[in-house]
Amino acid sequence: MVFLNGQFIPEKQAFVSICDRGFQLGDGIYEVIRCYQGRPFRLGDHIERLFQSAQAIRLELPYGRDELAGFVNRLIADVTWDYADIYIQVTRGGAPRVHEFPAQIHPTVLMYVSQGQAVSPITLEQGIEAIIIPDTRGTLCNIKSVNLLPNVLARQAAAEAGAGEALFEREGIGVVEGAASNIFAVRKGVLSTGPLSPYTLPGVTRDCVLQLAKAQGLPVELEFLSREELLTADEVFITSTSKEVLAVTILAGQMIGDGRPGPITLKLASDYRALIKRECGI
Ligand SMILES: Cc1ncc(COP(=O)(O)O)c(C=O)c1O
Repeated sequence: MVFLNGQFIPEKQAFVSICDRGFQLGDGIYEVIRCYQGRPFRLGDHIERLFQSAQAIRLELPYGRDELAGFVNRLIADVTWDYADIYIQVTRGGAPRVHEFPAQIHPTVLMYVSQGQAVSPITLEQGIEAIIIPDTRGTLCNIKSVNLLPNVLARQAAAEAGAGEALFEREGIGVVEGAASNIFAVRKGVLSTGPLSPYTLPGVTRDCVLQLAKAQGLPVELEFLSREELLTADEVFITSTSKEVLAVTILAGQMIGDGRPGPITLKLASDYRALIKRECGI
């Protein structure tokens, strides 16, 4: 079943107009929420970010936060997969194509669940390779918008290079985030990640990791690192809803540290798992 504009219907009956502005103009926002044994992790944070994205693109959501959470819970009520991903997309709706906001328009709200993929134990143990590419995006990266062309091209470049992620490097600023992840580094026992800014998505996982680091008493600095600073860091890792906390052991063809996930990365990854267990019971 999928949720489309207030109704729970079979996927085969769920259709969106060819005039939908999400389809024609990329005029929409989205969220991805991971569920562990049918329980959504940090649902409230994801719904809050959806509302922030909506406000940033001046779109009024037709449902309140609690109502939306109720729909999500109904959608996953029968899910038996250990890992599932809820996708929520809201576009400005369907109307004859003009760039400015049409006067009479109702948002299209779509939600569905798919089976989630856990990162394999071998990948967790070895870490991944990442490439660094120029950031061709603008300054709306704090909005989780469906305009993902630079991210799609970045991930494709990573896949073609045999890497698992592409990190965006922004001139004069540093390496800001991954195509679908936030970046962290550990240098001399200090954890760093970029500050909240128009160049990065305020990741829900990033936020959890910062809280876990704080609980451990780990020193944290919020700043963007340059390519050189990342390449000479003791540890580098990425965070995201689906990848959780994942070490980057080869970056731009160079080994990070001794080429294996470092102790701080592993501790934060296991603390993150423990948090999931506490909140979702898996
Ligand atoms: C560009 C970008 N940055 C960061 C993230 C990580 O965000 P979260 O931890 O909320 O999944 C994502 C997730 O897809 C993303 O697309």
